[in-house]
Amino acid sequence: MSRRMLVAGNWKMFTTSGEGAVLIQDLAQRVEEVWDEVEVAVCPPFTGLKAASTVIELDKLTMSLGAQDVHWEAEGAFTGAIAPRMLADLRCDYVIVGHSERREYFGDTNETVNKKVRAVFDAGMVPIMCCGESLATREALETDAFVRAQVMEGAAGLSAEEAAQLVIAYEPIWAIGTGRTPTPESANDVCRSIRATIGAMYGPPAAMAVRVLYGGSVKAENAKMFLSEPDIDGGLVGGAALNADSFADIAKAAL
Ligand code: PGA
Repeated sequence: MSRRMLVAGNWKMFTTSGEGAVLIQDLAQRVEEVWDEVEVAVCPPFTGLKAASTVIELDKLTMSLGAQDVHWEAEGAFTGAIAPRMLADLRCDYVIVGHSERREYFGDTNETVNKKVRAVFDAGMVPIMCCGESLATREALETDAFVRAQVMEGAAGLSAEEAAQLVIAYEPIWAIGTGRTPTPESANDVCRSIRATIGAMYGPPAAMAVRVLYGGSVKAENAKMFLSEPDIDGGLVGGAALNADSFADIAKAAL
């Protein structure tokens, strides 16, 4: 079976809502031609979601929308937090969950990531669940066991149908924003292992359907190498997603 490629831009804390709306319009013109084969998504900061959603709808753009995080509770006294249904209300398709920056600076754990994954599905959206090892873990040759545990704990308790819809982004922490990357073969090995883990948990159809993205210093120049690997179904792109030309080139490399 063939999985539709997904190239998602993680804008992190870089864009105002106005800047984001302009970036989406610039990008949409450049990626329209790839849409049938490559799904393109943008993930602005919370404050940019409304403008993004409006421009996508009014201009009828072929673009998916994602948020960068969410709280797992449906509502409540959680000052500063955003509930899943607030994101669904803005027509978000995806929510990034468990990015290493959330784990490092905001205390996300496999347990809270799992609650967020559950909450995102319950609100009718799809999680992009991030995993990936530190340099120390890689140097200790423990990448595979570490990432498998993140997937087993983060993706626990789903139905097989949900597991099939899930998106998992493999992002080695040492590759994020550094210009350093694993070789495409070694990234593919980890992505294959992630797929096998989903297979062990939810069966072969879920393993065949789950989309596994690579992220970490993906650029227009190296995208094709990663995206042509058999177990890599797209990319989660940070820095290079903030420029319409470079992000469009990455999306085209997925063809
Ligand atoms: P980068 O970030 O492409 O800037 O390395 C990727 C990410 O953090 O999702």
